[in-house]
Amino acid sequence: GGPATVSPTGQPTGADQARTAQSGSYLTDAQGVRRYDTDHSLKAGPRGPVLLQDHHLREKVMHFDHERIPERVVHARGAGAHGVFRSYGTAANVTKAAFLAEDVETPVFVRFSTVLGSRGSADTVRDTRGFATKFYTSEGVFDLVGNNIPVFFIQDAIKFPDVIHAGKPHPDREIPQAQSAHDTFWDFVTLHTEATHHTLWNMSDRGIPRSYRTMEGFGVHTFRLVNAAGETTLVKFHWKPRLGVHSLVWEEAQIAGGVDPDFHRRDLYDAIEAGAHPEWEFGIQTFPDTPDQTFEGIDLLDPTNIVPEELAPVQPIGLLTLNRNPTNFFAETEQVAFHVGHLVPGIDITDDPLLAGRLFSYLDTQITRLGGPNFPQIPINRPQAPVNDMLRDGFHQTAVHRGVAPYRPNSLDGGCPFTAGADMGAYIETPVRVPEAAKVREAPESFGDHYSQPRRFWLSMSPVEREHIIGAYTFELAKCYEQAIKERALQTLANIDPELCAGVAAGLGLPAPEPTEPLADVEPSPALSQVGRIWPAD
Ligand code: HEM
Repeated sequence: GGPATVSPTGQPTGADQARTAQSGSYLTDAQGVRRYDTDHSLKAGPRGPVLLQDHHLREKVMHFDHERIPERVVHARGAGAHGVFRSYGTAANVTKAAFLAEDVETPVFVRFSTVLGSRGSADTVRDTRGFATKFYTSEGVFDLVGNNIPVFFIQDAIKFPDVIHAGKPHPDREIPQAQSAHDTFWDFVTLHTEATHHTLWNMSDRGIPRSYRTMEGFGVHTFRLVNAAGETTLVKFHWKPRLGVHSLVWEEAQIAGGVDPDFHRRDLYDAIEAGAHPEWEFGIQTFPDTPDQTFEGIDLLDPTNIVPEELAPVQPIGLLTLNRNPTNFFAETEQVAFHVGHLVPGIDITDDPLLAGRLFSYLDTQITRLGGPNFPQIPINRPQAPVNDMLRDGFHQTAVHRGVAPYRPNSLDGGCPFTAGADMGAYIETPVRVPEAAKVREAPESFGDHYSQPRRFWLSMSPVEREHIIGAYTFELAKCYEQAIKERALQTLANIDPELCAGVAAGLGLPAPEPTEPLADVEPSPALSQVGRIWPAD
């Protein structure tokens, strides 16, 4: 027992949880026994041997020995903040999600991250950034686990272990880290050419954001919204920073990485402490939910595709404000567990095969990382809605469950009324038709276009952005040991654009190859350029 305290999510915790927060005016051991000295081991005389019977010594050192938990297998390095999301109500016609009705305020926790570096790595490396948001809605938790780049390296989750093995440090030398993972990284992205688009974004200024506060965020996959009438709409989610989109230039990133490896973490923390609360507008691009799930010829199930904003404008649906720093990094930023499967009524998934694998992977990894299946009970992960889940026991169980009948229906504990199929605010999966087809291990033909979207990105860049992209490819590829990998990389660049290929080839001192397929006939999308990217656009 003890006085009630406040959890990291701002929720008052019961007296039985107060023990976990340090309380009381004197030092105790973990059993609550008062201790008078924690600086000296128990010894047989001041110069004599230390005694094994010293429980305080053994308990203190044992606990310290087990302080570290495994870092995330990806996105290990991050920084988080609490905030509030206020919805405009402009999505209420396409979704019944309660937190998107007009003027609803929902507490949130956001974690930004790099992907490839370890927990102690530098912030300003060239890499994709994670942008994960936990909404503690009245209908349960909704997680939007996105990135600052709207496309992904691969189209099928079965390749995720491969792309991450290629991007993480070399198994022999444990160097290098992040995007300059040189031979293996470039080997992978040139052999799996669907990675061309994401790689181009990484080599652009988007790969070295100036601040977490000046990044866009993207849900990447196409999601399916459902309204009160049961009508469905396909959407892509966007975060638009009120401060505009800004990057470092390469030399700045190098200097900042050396002088202050915590550059982004410090920037976020200091801004929030100073009252300069960063804001993002939440937006959706909407597409009719047609049987082929394409829009203007773009396959919406292919996560290497964007839909240009000129074709489908981003409609603002709410405002995110980050206004409170964590008080304990471990309890909040480290123990938070996001999952693309944490959905609320009104938001559903599509058949994007990358999303399907993610639905398995996060739950699975968190069992190891957070020590068993009870991580939803960790304060930062607790829903701010009633939980009555019939899940019992397990490692790190902290709940004392009441009743004897953890099954429904039951006639012993009062049960809980169920009406099968009735909409009582329950999560009901949209009865989308599954196409009749034979089982296959293959990608659809529409996943085979790997160059037209990268070409659109390149054509949309301003001259200075192009110069930076050529510089980035040249720097990174120059670090490769294998000549064949450099040549293959130049081949992918030739298939995007001759100017890009010639620039990098000149930098590497190699001949520029001819494209192996006709250059795609695409229009630039001015919204892709970072120049003057302020939201909302005037
Ligand atoms: C972690 C985004 C694809 C497996 C993360 C995090 C983000 C993210 C933002 C960090 C969450 C945090 O801050 O705690 C994405 C995006 C993807 C993608 C946008 C593609 C659209 C995948 C795929 C897999 C995967 C395909 C596996 C098949 C993981 C794992 C973690 C992770 C295992 C660590 C989770 C943890 O330890 O809690 N991802 N990811 N991701 N991701 Fe992904």
